[in-house]
Amino acid sequence: MNRVIKIFDTTLRDGEQSPGASMNVEEKVTLAKQLARLGVDIIEAGFAISSPGDFEAIKRIGNEVEGPIICSLARAKKEDIDRAWEALKDAPKRRIHTFHSTSDIHLKHQYRISRDEALKRSVEMVKHARSYVDDVEFSPMDATRTEIAYLHEVVEAVIEAGAGTVNIPDTVGYAMPEEFGALIKSVKDKVRNIDKAVISVHCHNDLGLAVANAIAAIRNGAGQIECTVNGIGERAGNCSMEEVVMALRTRKDFFGADTRINTEEIIRSSRLVTKITGIPVQPNKAIVGANAFAHESGIHQDGLLKERTTYEIMRPESVGLVKTNLVLGKHSGRHAFRDRLKQIGYELSEEDLNKAFERFKRLADQKKEVFDEDLEAIISDEVQQIAEVYVLKTIRAESGTGITPAATVEMELDGRVVMQTGSGDGPVDAVYRTIAAITGTKSKLDAYLVKGITGGTDALGEVTVKVEEQGKKVAGHGADTDIIVASAKAYVNALNKLEYWKKGKAKTS
Ligand code: KIV
Ligand code: ZN
Repeated sequence: MNRVIKIFDTTLRDGEQSPGASMNVEEKVTLAKQLARLGVDIIEAGFAISSPGDFEAIKRIGNEVEGPIICSLARAKKEDIDRAWEALKDAPKRRIHTFHSTSDIHLKHQYRISRDEALKRSVEMVKHARSYVDDVEFSPMDATRTEIAYLHEVVEAVIEAGAGTVNIPDTVGYAMPEEFGALIKSVKDKVRNIDKAVISVHCHNDLGLAVANAIAAIRNGAGQIECTVNGIGERAGNCSMEEVVMALRTRKDFFGADTRINTEEIIRSSRLVTKITGIPVQPNKAIVGANAFAHESGIHQDGLLKERTTYEIMRPESVGLVKTNLVLGKHSGRHAFRDRLKQIGYELSEEDLNKAFERFKRLADQKKEVFDEDLEAIISDEVQQIAEVYVLKTIRAESGTGITPAATVEMELDGRVVMQTGSGDGPVDAVYRTIAAITGTKSKLDAYLVKGITGGTDALGEVTVKVEEQGKKVAGHGADTDIIVASAKAYVNALNKLEYWKKGKAKTS
């Protein structure tokens, strides 16, 4: 029988600490619902005390997302733990994750306290968290640079105080796999009450070893892995969920261990994270990169045609990469449309369904074959999750050889219709300059990315942009068979998200 390794997903907390990856509350709830479909055991939904947005996201996820345990991070401080409890108290399955640094480097230079004091605070705060919830996790931060005997002492003391999970973080991504495996083994062998807790690990990827370290930990007794979708996270990121999960699934024979992850949801989760954060996945990234299942060499293709196992260790379908997913065409009705959306995880209100169906009909007229990816783009485009301050009504762009690219854009701003014409270096630039002039935005365009959703020149094009204002970065998306229209939608979407953020900020300041 395989050991079951718990997946603790921290995309919404550590993942959000990736530079420029911030998500709004609606996006966090959407992603948490997808993580539940993926089958993660625990969702670290945020750091309740860090911002009102994080607090609200944890509260809503706790109320709206069924299945996983919902967790909030909290420093080993009374006010942090109280705030985590406030955010979690209505969630049927909840966990408080509290942490304190234990390495001398951190204690001496950052906290300026002794080891004894750090141990005392850790124990007191685990007890305080246990006064609210039965499920408490403790992390001795910077564990891999902590003196080992002291680490054992802290772990033993927090288990005694009531922690049911002890998480050993490689906070700065410093450990080597053999060394990290040995550290986990030492915790298992030397901590007297370790049978009362699950050993978890949290590995950062500064030396590209996060997954290798997590796997070494599993081999040495870890029962929970903290990870993020696409491996996003602080600096070089975290252990990548899809890599560790597929390593276990593919090599069950070697590990004698597996997870409860519904791997067919991996690609969808990865795409959603890219869409929300605007952080693209490199093409050669294992499991979720565009080339992960692409065979280029003639010898490999020949082998695959004869027998797929010659060069394929995982089936693309097993991670949800289904190429021949022709779903609907122009004759498909509303019922079939709703059914298909349900199958791929979307249940819309009548109003949103009507909007999406209308858009689908227009697309099916243009494109004949509509795939799951197209439906996902339609949903993310049509079903607005935040109130729109700016509504794009019409655009017209002109470009070509020997003429100055120009654009005319019509928009609605708080109910007022404005039309303006402008020019630029190309049609997208002309459209963007005109939108910027109409809205009077002070934001700066940080990134612009175009992707064809399915093959062919009639495919929907998807544009992701990142804009920045007052240090806040947001990602916007737009999809359309016309790439200029998709670009305009993405920009307006990002500007609306900035307005949403500004409103939230104004409310709390
Ligand atoms: O990297 C780290 O040590 C963390 C802790 C809060 C677990 O993110
Ligand atoms: Zn971390």
